[in-house]
Amino acid sequence: MQQQFFEKGTKVMESSRRDVVILAIESSCDETAAAVVKNGREVLSNVISSQIELHTLYGGVVPEIASRKHIEKINQVIEEALNKAHMSLEEMDAIAVTYGPGLVGALLVGVAEAKAIAYAAGKPLLGVHHIEGHINANYIENKELEPPFLCLVVSGGHTHLVKVADYGSYEILGRTRDDAAGEAFDKVARAIGLGYPGGPKIEKVSKEGNPDAIAFPRAKVAQNPYDFSFSGVKSAVLNYINGCKMKNIPIVQADIAASFQKAVTDVLVEHAMMAVEEFKINKFAIAGGVASNRVLRDGMCKACEERNVEFYYPSPVFCTDNAAMIGTAAYYEYLSGRRDGWDLNAVPGLKLGER
Ligand code: KG4
Ligand code: ZN
Repeated sequence: MQQQFFEKGTKVMESSRRDVVILAIESSCDETAAAVVKNGREVLSNVISSQIELHTLYGGVVPEIASRKHIEKINQVIEEALNKAHMSLEEMDAIAVTYGPGLVGALLVGVAEAKAIAYAAGKPLLGVHHIEGHINANYIENKELEPPFLCLVVSGGHTHLVKVADYGSYEILGRTRDDAAGEAFDKVARAIGLGYPGGPKIEKVSKEGNPDAIAFPRAKVAQNPYDFSFSGVKSAVLNYINGCKMKNIPIVQADIAASFQKAVTDVLVEHAMMAVEEFKINKFAIAGGVASNRVLRDGMCKACEERNVEFYYPSPVFCTDNAAMIGTAAYYEYLSGRRDGWDLNAVPGLKLGER
C-alpha cells in the first residue's frame, strides 16, 4: 500500500510500505488513556478514563491518588482500546507511551506498563513527549496539515508557542514564566467559587458576563516578547475580589470570569499573531486542554482569517489528554527509526526537543 514515509530532517516522501499500527498509552496526569493509531492519522480506538470527579473533591489533582487510579484502570483501558480497534497485541508494530513531562508517579505507571507489554510481546518501545503529543493531535483531523507551522500549546501545565519546523523538530519561541494558561483558569475558578476543573466552568459562566466589565492586566515579558506571564492577572482577580469585599460591592462572578477569560485569550492571540507576522508562516495550530475554549478558538480564527493564515485546532476530545495524540507523535518517531530501550524512565520535567 502507498503511504507517506518520513525520515527525520528530510522532506516527507512517498514510499511503498505496509501499514504501521501503534498502541499508545498516556497517564501523565489525571487521565488513564490508551489508543490504537494506524499510520499516524487514523484513530482506530481512543479510550479515556478520566479521574476528574475524584479530584474535584480536593479542588485539584492529588498526585498520589492519580497514580493509584492509573494502576487500577490501565489494564482495562488498554484491553478496551485493542477490542474497539478489533486488533490484538500481536498485530501492533510498536508500543508508545508518554514518559514526560507530568506527575512522576502517574508517568511511571504508563511507562512500566508499556515496557512490560512491549517486552512480553517482543515489540519496539517508544517514549513520547507529552507536549509533542498535544501538537501532533492536530494531524488527526487535519489530514492535509504538514510542517512547517506554528503552534500554541495551552494546557494545565504548559503554555508554549512553538515553531514546528518538521516532524519531530520543534523550536520553542515563547513559554510561560510562571503559571500555565490552564493553571490560571483553574486558580481563578477556585477563587470565584467555581471549583475544579476551572477552564470549562469559567467558559460556561462567562457566557452570562460582560468581558469588558473589568480591565484585568495583559502582562508583557520584557526579555522575550513571545513569553507569557499569567500570575499577574490571577493576582489582579484576587485583589479585585478583596477590594469588592472591603467596599461592600457585590461580586459579579460572570463578569469576573468573562473579563479574566478575555484578558488571557487576548494575550494568547496577540503573541500568536506576532509570531505569524515575524516568521511568515501561514499555518497556525492550537493544542492542549485550553485549546477547546470557544473564545480562544474564535479569537484565533478571526485573527488568522484577517492575515490569510490557515487555522487548525483539534476537536475537544483530542485537546484534553488522550492517547491518540501520543500514537500520532510516536508514528513519526517510529518512521525516523528511533526506538527506546528497556531503561526508558519517567522524566517529570522533560523539556520539548530533549531526549
Ligand atoms: O491538556 P490538559 O487536558 O492537561 C494537561 O496536560 O495539563 O489540560 C487541562 C487544562 C486544565 O487547566 C483545564 O482547566 C483547561 O485545560 N481547560 C480549559 C477548557 N477546558 C479545559 N481552559 C479553558 N477553557 C476550556 N474550555
Ligand atoms: Zn496535556
